[in-house]
Amino acid sequence: MLLTIEEAVLRNGFFTLAANFYFMAEDLEIIQGTRQEQYEALIPQIKGLLEGETDLVANLANVAAALKEQFGWLWVGFYLIKNEELVLGPFQGPVACTRIKKGRGVCGSSWAQEKTLIVADVEKFPGHIACSSLSKSEIVVPLFYDNNVIGVLDVDADEFNQFDETDQKYLEQIVQMIPLS
Ligand code: SME
Repeated sequence: MLLTIEEAVLRNGFFTLAANFYFMAEDLEIIQGTRQEQYEALIPQIKGLLEGETDLVANLANVAAALKEQFGWLWVGFYLIKNEELVLGPFQGPVACTRIKKGRGVCGSSWAQEKTLIVADVEKFPGHIACSSLSKSEIVVPLFYDNNVIGVLDVDADEFNQFDETDQKYLEQIVQMIPLS
């Protein structure tokens, strides 16, 4: 079928519009329920957001936004290792410290120990780095590529004792879904 130029432009416009609509992420479904139920509803949506996108910054940005939207935590974001330091990456929340050395603070300790750290009261964590005075509890989950830590997911809450093994389980699952290279 032959199209006039006007028809082709119109059709192309329609498909571009339809594609933009299809890929719009603003319809994240926020659910009520237990922490576990919230993660169970969020994980397939995060999977959808990551599908077909390979750009690391884009994916980290959307994961941070999805977690912040669902749980309303104070700060959700990523630090990535560059030249032997953690450097601030995509995040949602108040402005934050840009560089953290290995072994320093909760983030640097999670990197050094290569494991998730849950801190019920940040003031009781030796060497905690207070990017925001509002932060009361924290969980940091390392990101692994080829068995090496390449960064961390850091989540801060403005109340004490906000994170437990359920968060660890699901946040570890979520960071494993992010395509890394
Ligand atoms: N509190 C963290 C620093 C990062 S901010 O919380 C965003 C730490 O002790 O490593």
